[in-house]
Amino acid sequence: MPVARRPVMSVDHPIPEPDDLARRPFLKRALALLLGAGALLTPLAAGLTALLHPLRRQAGTGTVVRVTSFSALPEDGTPRRFPVLADRRNAWNRSLNEPLGAVFIRRTGPESAEALHAVCPHAGCLIDFAPATGDFQCPCHKSSFDRSGRISQPNSPSPRDMDSLEIQVRDREVWVRFQNFRTGSTRKIPV
Ligand code: FES
Repeated sequence: MPVARRPVMSVDHPIPEPDDLARRPFLKRALALLLGAGALLTPLAAGLTALLHPLRRQAGTGTVVRVTSFSALPEDGTPRRFPVLADRRNAWNRSLNEPLGAVFIRRTGPESAEALHAVCPHAGCLIDFAPATGDFQCPCHKSSFDRSGRISQPNSPSPRDMDSLEIQVRDREVWVRFQNFRTGSTRKIPV
């Protein structure tokens, strides 16, 4: 009489249970989904970081930058021009102290100051401060402004006053929200 043969089992490679066999395709698909999502999200996150970095928000809302210490401002309220520098970063690179532009800052009180954009609203030349006359003068087409930045001449080539910028003095450090504005317009339009 023939003897029924029993399945051979190995201790090293146990025969998988039917439930295990059913779960394997599911696990494979889940793993593939996870890897695919990771591959998509990594560049997306890098792109968002670059997009949301302060330097990218310059258009419209400006970039908040520490410009100088309060003690660097002349005590008599004379405006002084400062470069505006900030670190620039994107998904791959980071460069330090990139120039964004320039501002005039002057003290208006023991702990207060005001900031004016150093670019002329007429056609974009860099404005100078003339200590002898105590006003701002543009070398290109001779617009002039008083020390508060208001047009100080009739028939000014500049269509508007110098552009004021938001400023804060915190712990004796001067911070400015720096942004550029459209030239040649009577209105102060951020660009
Ligand atoms: S650019 Fe300043 S007056 Fe023309």
